[in-house]
Amino acid sequence: MRINKDMKMAEVIHLNHHLLPVLNRFDIHLGFGERSVETVCRDHALNIDFFLEIVNTFHDPSYFPVRHLQSFKASMLIDYLQKTHAYYLDFKIPEIRQNIRQITQEGSLQNSHKKLLEDFFDSYQHELTTHINKEEQRVYPYVISLENTLDNPASTVKELQEIGRYSILEYEEDHDDVEAKLFDLKNIIIKYLPTSKNNKLLNVILHDIFELERDLNNHGHIEDLILVPIVENMEKALRARLNKLSANV
Ligand SMILES: [Fe+2]
Ligand SMILES: [Fe+2]
Repeated sequence: MRINKDMKMAEVIHLNHHLLPVLNRFDIHLGFGERSVETVCRDHALNIDFFLEIVNTFHDPSYFPVRHLQSFKASMLIDYLQKTHAYYLDFKIPEIRQNIRQITQEGSLQNSHKKLLEDFFDSYQHELTTHINKEEQRVYPYVISLENTLDNPASTVKELQEIGRYSILEYEEDHDDVEAKLFDLKNIIIKYLPTSKNNKLLNVILHDIFELERDLNNHGHIEDLILVPIVENMEKALRARLNKLSANV
């Protein structure tokens, strides 16, 4: 069942509570009362089409309306993607790390297993942080400048040439699959950690890793299949504008 604008926002959460962090990324918080999706979006000045597409791709991984999603502004996607990054780095990863610390401090696991779990997670955290920092510091600022430069009819040839020095192709080529390693982490817990008195907490950790993996999967698809093609089109428009301007000189 797809989420539509006439549903009550409360019904959306009853239908799929995994959407809660997604709603937070749109600055929508609990306490919807009887308000519909459309009313809540209007109250938050959100683009309802964009909201519905993002929520539905998350709700149903087989639903991914590439064409429609590519019709939105890159800056709109980036705002959502940045909030997703913040959710991973400021909330989800520290929460999982904290639970792992609790398990390793309680002492029922062998030292070698504690070390395996902690080292693996720390190296994953480092890998994810590096991946996100690169996007936040290099790729997203480029996309925003490209959009602004193109949106400004008064942009000069120099400004257009300057922005054209980078290409999204660079990102496309080395944008790795950051959730792959989580599969190995899940297997360490599922296959190799002996049942301990912390079994319930290990289940919580495992559950959180499954959720993170699903979230990262959706995030990566938005970057690869939606953001990159939008930027490629903007780069085409940039080249066309530069050619036109140089022909007029
Ligand atoms: Fe990202
Ligand atoms: Fe990424």
